[in-house]
Amino acid sequence: MKNLPVTIPFFDEKESQNVKKVLDSGWVAQGPVVAEFEEAIASHEGIKYGVATTSCTTALHLAMAAEGMGAGMDALAPAFTFVATTNAIVQTGATPVLVDICRDTYNIDVEKLAEVIRNDYREQNGKMVHKETGNILWGIVPVHEFGLCCDISAVNRLAEEYHLKVIEDAACALGAKIGEVHQGGFGNPSCVSFHPRKSITTGEGGMVLTENEALAKRMRELRTHGSTVSADARHHGQGYLLPEFPEAGYNYRMTNLQAALGVAQMEELPEFIRRKNMNYDRYCSCLQTFERGELMRFREGTYANKWFYSLHLYERHPDRSKIICGFDEAGIQTRAIWGLIHMQKPYLRCITYQIEKAEYYSEHIINLPCSTNLQERQIVEICDYIKKNL
Ligand SMILES: Cc1ncc(COP(=O)(O)O)c(C=O)c1O
Repeated sequence: MKNLPVTIPFFDEKESQNVKKVLDSGWVAQGPVVAEFEEAIASHEGIKYGVATTSCTTALHLAMAAEGMGAGMDALAPAFTFVATTNAIVQTGATPVLVDICRDTYNIDVEKLAEVIRNDYREQNGKMVHKETGNILWGIVPVHEFGLCCDISAVNRLAEEYHLKVIEDAACALGAKIGEVHQGGFGNPSCVSFHPRKSITTGEGGMVLTENEALAKRMRELRTHGSTVSADARHHGQGYLLPEFPEAGYNYRMTNLQAALGVAQMEELPEFIRRKNMNYDRYCSCLQTFERGELMRFREGTYANKWFYSLHLYERHPDRSKIICGFDEAGIQTRAIWGLIHMQKPYLRCITYQIEKAEYYSEHIINLPCSTNLQERQIVEICDYIKKNL
């Protein structure tokens, strides 16, 4: 097998045509194609508003800032996530408090969430205040790990009980559902990513989805330097609209060029997800006789987008890079899963709450090739390699 990447995006003529149209129009920065892309994503997920940004990291930061997260506050987040989740928290001035994940689904452990709130915070004037640091608990940032929605109803119940806010990190979860409700429809702002490793791509890009009109408006202003007048309104409004900047905002604008890619990719999303599911089933059936590990499991009642195929190896391998190099030599690119957040330099002093399973999984998971155009025979070869060598 020759250099099979862990994942590459799939493009065809439609993407080139859409990008060419934008180039020909001369309007390459944020404009009407971004609005079209926002509408395509929001309507696919059954949500009213989409606010496109330059990445999921900036989408998270934008939503957090607009929802009042800031200095002197804590946000509860899983220790097992990509560092972007907590980097966005830190950029608001707030502090992440790290919680464990569940067995099998790798999603945030809601029992531990409840415990940390009850044990480490006390109520003061209607707010939860950390007993040692005095920080106010802003809320929770759950992650829909690997495209599998977390137990969001339980997270929402906790948030209601303690008057907390929730922003969902749905970077990998575009198209994922619980029952018939898509991610984004669970009552909180959710943030998706369009990095090339995600279900669809715009090169780099992200979006906040929300049902809240006022929040969407505020985020649109904040992403454009805090301006009260969007570029679109300036171009299409009557006379000259003088923007005001009542708040110091950011430049988190997606470009029309990126959105043009996204609009084309969105047409393919159902087919991409169908293929990802089909290939997941193929991997599972090829690995049926493999006794030293299994693929990530998905909770009943959830419809995951099967974004990544995570192989859980039961035995701890002291040197995972050796395993990855072995795959590489066989022409198969794989990836170790994230290092834990509190092992990264900026987070070494973060408060962590009884983290065990996250530590276990971060040492036991290898992500396998998962491009949408992966062929059955390639899956068979990958699984043969696994059965012979791991
Ligand atoms: C869980 C999670 N959150 C956030 C991000 C950041 O996404 P982006 O690269 O679009 O900023 C990623 C990227 O992989 C992710 O996996």
